[in-house]
Order: sequence, then structure tokens, then C-alpha cells
Amino acid sequence: MNDNSDAGRPDAGRRRFLKQAGTVAFGGLLLGGKALASAEHAISPAEATPDFNPDVEIELAAVVDEVGLLPGAPTTVWRFTGRVLRGSTDALTFLKSSDHGPSFVPVLRMRRGQKVRIFFANRLPEKSIVHWHGLHIVQRMDGHPMYAIGTGKLYVYEFVVDNRAGTYWFHPHPHERTGFQVYRGLAGFLLVSDDEEDALKLPRGTFDLPLVIQDRTFDSRNQFVYLQFMMERMMGFMGERVLVNAAPDYTRAVERTAYRMRLFNGSNATAYRLSLTDGRPFLVIGTDGGLLEQPVTRRTLALGVGERADVWMDFAAAQSGDEIALIAQSFAPMMSGGGGMPMMGRAANPAPRVIARFRVGSGAAAKSSPPARLSKFPALHLRDAVNRGRPRRIHMSMMRGQAFLNGRIFDTEAVADDERVRLGTTEVWEFVNDSPMAHPMHVHNLQFRVIERSDAAVGDAASLSAGFTDEGLKDVVLVLPGQRVKVLMKFEDHAGLYLYHCHILEHEDLGMMRNYRVEAKD
Ligand code: C2O
Ligand code: CU
Ligand code: CU
Repeated sequence: MNDNSDAGRPDAGRRRFLKQAGTVAFGGLLLGGKALASAEHAISPAEATPDFNPDVEIELAAVVDEVGLLPGAPTTVWRFTGRVLRGSTDALTFLKSSDHGPSFVPVLRMRRGQKVRIFFANRLPEKSIVHWHGLHIVQRMDGHPMYAIGTGKLYVYEFVVDNRAGTYWFHPHPHERTGFQVYRGLAGFLLVSDDEEDALKLPRGTFDLPLVIQDRTFDSRNQFVYLQFMMERMMGFMGERVLVNAAPDYTRAVERTAYRMRLFNGSNATAYRLSLTDGRPFLVIGTDGGLLEQPVTRRTLALGVGERADVWMDFAAAQSGDEIALIAQSFAPMMSGGGGMPMMGRAANPAPRVIARFRVGSGAAAKSSPPARLSKFPALHLRDAVNRGRPRRIHMSMMRGQAFLNGRIFDTEAVADDERVRLGTTEVWEFVNDSPMAHPMHVHNLQFRVIERSDAAVGDAASLSAGFTDEGLKDVVLVLPGQRVKVLMKFEDHAGLYLYHCHILEHEDLGMMRNYRVEAKD
């Protein structure tokens, strides 16, 4: 850890970076952006392509910093910083945690069809690489751990945004260190917009609220505590305090009108069962892969790690002065019971905790309602699946402190025969949870449909079931203990090596992650 004594000063991060940058050849990058044109920064495994001509060009650095998250001493964090070199300035902004709090959580805003170049500078004291979670993207831009770069190095991403409008996100993906790096603060929103969404006139600007829910444990000096005990690796790390957009007691003044809230579970391991204190149901308009075809209502919302839910939240009927809170029961993937016997799917915090508070303002109410038709999904039919009757099965299991997918653990370039798929084909995969824990399963490079879910769940975790939004396009699906979930997906456009894994970050780091290879027809 390079804790500098000057770290508390506002420009300290920048000076520290320049110091490091001086030792490598890309100092020009953060000084002016002009030097980019010269070949001087060409020190990375990936270089800017001279004729790529991006619409948007962003400099994104992962840095060590100190931020006042709690009252009192600042917390040493790892965070993203950066700026827009080309394109609209709102392509990279940072969410303010509260009126007086720091701007911390990064938000990248992209448009479908846009050509994007991102210079990722690793200023951490260890290897890293950034993954764009949910994006349909070529292998070399996907942030696979094999592309992790060392301290002081640069990785150049260039891609065309090829996703539907929606709430995606980004985070580091170096093998065995993802949990640590995300926990320290490295995670952000990646919001994609498109013409279809624009035409709907959904709430925008200050009425479009991205909200990331994360849990953290702080020590008495306000520093993050992570993985003190061996068991926490196996169980997944759960923090004692819930932060929303990096704020410990997130409270926000809202007007008497409709908001679009983009709820995102950015915790390492915790699953949440969300509800609202005024008893109203959630009106869900979108999931991981963007807008639903039509809104659906849910009394409770279940969000496993990595999952997103776009909800239409209308405060018009509320009285000014009302306080409506988003509350949640937190679920550990598994809770250890007495006598060392695991109790399956037991809620870690049976009593709901307040996640966020919304205080309704005094203005006149503005009536509105969500569009009845939101979107149209891309065609994806079970009848087109090449393995319709015999799904590819992924058994999830845990044994002796290890977590497995079909009995295997991650190996950087390894692909088993049963992990090869054909480019252009549609397949059914069945996640079979043979373990006593819930696992949020994630597949890179695509959005899938959940087509079948057994109701074999046991224990308190079963109460999460009513909150699933399996109607939507998804890139993460929470598979409860003992449950089987079938998903349908198509391997379009990109041949190459991609990942599928449990998104409990401690499990991913343990190796509950594998490659699959999309192979072009020969
Ligand atoms: Cu959110 Cu493999 O990633
Ligand atoms: Cu991903
Ligand atoms: Cu897991």
C-alpha cells in the first residue's frame, strides 16, 4: 500500500499519479491528452488504433486514494478516476454520495452504435484489468484475467457499443483479486441509451437515479475490513453496513413525480430481498439487459450480486414530508448454524434494514405513468436451440473450501470439450445447484433468457423466489440452493474465449469460474 502522507489533500491523487507516470512512458496522457497522438504511450499489450476514430474517448485510471465516506477519518479506497478526452462531458461522471459527501461512484454513459476508446491506466500496486459487465464485445476488449496489466501500465479498449439501452456496469477482473479490488471501491455504472429508449420519454436527468447497493465492514479507524477469516472466502464476504452510492445512510429529497431508479447490487456476496415501507409494489421496467417488453409488478425484488433492476418509482401520490424507505432483508449465500451444520439458504439478517430513504418534497404532484409497451426483445426461441432436449449442464458444487463448476476450477486458458460452442448457434444451459448456497451465475458476452426454474429451493432463501424478474434479458441469474435454472442464449458475432462464473466475488476468486469458447464454423 502506498499510503502517502499528503493523501488527504485534494490534488494528492493527481500528484501521486504523475509521480508514478513519470517512471513510465505515458505521462503525457494525463497531462493533456494531446500527447496521445504521439506513440510515446505505446507500452501496453494493447495500443490505440490510428484509424479507429472514436466518438468518445475516455481516460480511466484505477488509483489509491483517501475519501471521507464516514464521519471522522478518511477511508483508504481504490477507485476509478478519469475524464473525457473526446465527446460529451457526461460520458464520465461521478455520483455524489450525499449533499456533503464525496463524488465517488463512476458512471459511464454510452450510446448504442457509438465508437468508444478507453485508456485504462493501472495505478494500483498490483495487476488489474477492467471488464464491461453485460456488454456484447470482442474477446480482447472483455477484460479477461489473461489481459491483466501491471502497475503503471496502460490498456487501450476500443469497441463499438452493441447493446440495448440498459444498466450495465464495470469492474476489475484480475484472477483471485476481483473481490478485493471491487470491495476497495472499483465498480461503476455503464449506462447505455438508444433511440428506442429515447422515444419512451422515461424520467431522465435528475429523475434517473442509479443506485448501487454495497455492504462494507469498517474498523474503528474507518478503514475497510475484508476477509479476516478463512470461512468468509467460502461463504462470501458480507459487510456490516450498507452503502448506497458510497453513502452510509443514503437519504435523498425527491419531488412528487416519477423517477427511474436503477437498482444495482454491487456487493461482493450478499443477496437482497428489497421492499418499500409504504407497502407499494415495485413497478419493474428493466433488468440486466435493458427494458422489459412491458412493466411487471413485484411486492419484493430479489437482487443477487451483479443483478440490476430498473424500477419506475412514482412519488406523485405521496404527501409532502413523507419518508419512503427502501428496505432489505440481507441473505448470506449460506449461514452456518449451530454445531457446524450449515443451514441452507438462511437469511443472515432476518430483520429488514433500511437501504435508502426518500423524502418527498412540497411541490405540486406531477402525474405520469410508465408506457404500457416498453420494448421488443431480440428474437430468441427455444425451438432454435441446437440442444433443445439435452441442455448443457453446469453443476455447481462446494467441497473442502473449494467451489466448482462441473467439478473444475478456473485455469486461465483452459477450455474443456464440453465448454465449446458454435458461433451463431442458440443453446440451452442448465445451472444445477448441488451446493447448500445460492450462486448468482453470470455469462460473459451476451444476455440470456431464463426459461425454466425449478422450485426446489429450501430454507429462507426460498422467500427470494417471489422477487425474481425472470421475464427480462439477464446476464446474471441467482440459482438458489438445490435449484435448477435453464437459460437460453445465442452466441452471436464474436468467436473467442469468454467466461462464465459465480458472481459472488469470493467464489469467483476461489476459481468458481471457467472459460467457454465460441468457435467459428470451419
Ligand atoms: Cu461482472 Cu466476469 O463479471
Ligand atoms: Cu461480466
Ligand atoms: Cu457462488
